[in-house]
Amino acid sequence: MNIIVCKNYEEMSLRAAELLAEVVKSKPACVLGLATGSTPVGMYQNLIRMNKAGEISFKDVTTVNLDEYYPIDPENDQSYRYFMNVNLFDHVDIDKAKTSVPDGTAKDPEAEGRRYEALISALGGIDVQILGIGRNGHIGFNEPDASLVLDTHVTDLTPSTIEANSRFFASEKDVPRQALTMGIGSIFKAKKIILMVSGAEKKAAVSALLARRISTASPATMLNLHPDVTLVCTTDVVD
Ligand code: PGA
Repeated sequence: MNIIVCKNYEEMSLRAAELLAEVVKSKPACVLGLATGSTPVGMYQNLIRMNKAGEISFKDVTTVNLDEYYPIDPENDQSYRYFMNVNLFDHVDIDKAKTSVPDGTAKDPEAEGRRYEALISALGGIDVQILGIGRNGHIGFNEPDASLVLDTHVTDLTPSTIEANSRFFASEKDVPRQALTMGIGSIFKAKKIILMVSGAEKKAAVSALLARRISTASPATMLNLHPDVTLVCTTDVVD
């Protein structure tokens, strides 16, 4: 695993944006796997700046997002589709028809998981996948469990994730109890993974990852098995 330790959130955001921009420049029709949450917001701001400056173009880029709450309407301002529009897609030259987020309105979430998995395969896999990490070591919404699911699937959120994500909602009871998420196998279809982590509350999850052991009790530890992972983090995560 490559590890890039940055002095603060701003530097982490810039470094991650530069890594993603390198992929877009070398392969303009690439497939980007994108993520939501607080962590990548600064990276998206850098990508918007680079796009406006003419340094990179998203014209031929296809994107697939990691996850989405279930159920949720795309117009809901807490949906991950809404997040992606507001934080990136509305500000760059991307063709929104080439952007995918799991469908939080699907009547049959299991069928939606299968459709999404088939979509990732049909795209030929993901060139670079952005990941965050949960305080409990989750990646996407692959929560700690006795076993982990390989393909895109519907899953129950753990109390720890509901509590962590309640900061974005009016109250904890408004947080959806389920989500559609890429599985560990879907994430592993990415040729390259960039894991972004900032904040001392993620320290335990990152220590587990760097301990060179794997356990489904900390799903991010599975990343030790992937051949091309770059951890881009702030100093408070590793000191
Ligand atoms: P955060 O979420 O970026 O909002 O901390 C990351 C995650 O839970 O995967």
